[in-house]
Amino acid sequence: MTTSDNLPAPVRDAIHNLQASKIRAISREGMNRDDVLPLWFGEPNFPTPKFICDAAAEALAAGHTFYTENRGIPPLRSTLSGYMSNLYGVDVAEDRITTTVAAMNGIMLVMEAIVDPGDNVVIVAPLWPNCRETVAIMGGEPRAVDLVEVDGKWQLDLERLFAACDERTRAIFVNSPGNPTGWVMSVEQQQAVLEFCRKKRIWLLADEVYARLIFDRPYAPSFIEIAEPEDPVIAFNSFSKSWAMTGWRLGWLTAPPSMGEVFEKLNEYNISGPTTFVQHAAIVAIRDGEDFVKQTVEGYRQGRDLVYQRLSGMDRVHLPFPEAAFYAFFRVDGVEDSLELARKILNETGVGLAPGAAFGQSGEGYLRLCFAATPDILSSAMDRLEPILS
Ligand SMILES: Cc1ncc(COP(=O)(O)O)c(C=O)c1O
Repeated sequence: MTTSDNLPAPVRDAIHNLQASKIRAISREGMNRDDVLPLWFGEPNFPTPKFICDAAAEALAAGHTFYTENRGIPPLRSTLSGYMSNLYGVDVAEDRITTTVAAMNGIMLVMEAIVDPGDNVVIVAPLWPNCRETVAIMGGEPRAVDLVEVDGKWQLDLERLFAACDERTRAIFVNSPGNPTGWVMSVEQQQAVLEFCRKKRIWLLADEVYARLIFDRPYAPSFIEIAEPEDPVIAFNSFSKSWAMTGWRLGWLTAPPSMGEVFEKLNEYNISGPTTFVQHAAIVAIRDGEDFVKQTVEGYRQGRDLVYQRLSGMDRVHLPFPEAAFYAFFRVDGVEDSLELARKILNETGVGLAPGAAFGQSGEGYLRLCFAATPDILSSAMDRLEPILS
């Protein structure tokens, strides 16, 4: 019996063998329960602000319902070029920008562009599982190099990262600020990784979707700040997290200008351009959204502080301080099966958490809680968790 025997006709083994998301596995079990506090997904618990919704409605009313340029409408690409240039203080030309159906699609497009069967991509883990599985879809090998917890801080050993690369390595994938850990790569480490990728002629894939969700400075260090335009660097960004637009599905890549033609073709054959009225609303999100971004980050900081203080006081919990993003990723003493624990917590307390095993082997024994929720919800979640985790 082959893996496709139960289907009307075969699908590729690489697709059969993809792992189902363990975050979805647990959320499916509690999705329809009214008593659940859902802190398992990485998204704000409030809807997109009105000024962005209004802009989308206006774009629809104005008839922006047709196909657009594959890489996005020129005013949006120009707005994003201006946004990146202002934020990072370096010139990020419009020809480096390609819009995508959020970062997820951007990551998939890039793997389509660079990974042949048998190639590998070295990823810094634990990591949001979708990044790993895009490599597997292409028949490549995602190769994890784990962050380690030292004195309550996540750290990356660069020697181990570089030693994991071989002649079939096509890219190093760095997600900083990181999901699930909140780890932020230092500029010194970024420079060393960039230098390594230049020398080896491999891609440096920088997942920077949490670039603005950092609490001690306006933005996290970006590879875009230190890379030359023609360096082998591709950064992924998204409207999902900072502008509370997870369901709109819009993001962008910043890549070398010489890759423009590649993304022109890949966008044509994957999506034929992102949704048109969403692109128009995104211009307004960037133009008028700075106050919103700053206010929400302040709200997440309060959530982070509340959760950090309460969880750190529970006897069985070890929580490295989350420097950025909106997750508490904590180890629980004596736990070998995080999915089972997440299930027990869901059933006994009604708090929805993501099991650490979803983020790779090194996440086993951990749980992830998204603190992008109101203080009331977070306090109530802490009250419910206390008896089980103390
Ligand atoms: C690290 C990371 N990269 C990419 C994404 C994808 O975000 P989106 O496709 O909504 O832009 C997420 C979403 O959770 C994420 O955590």
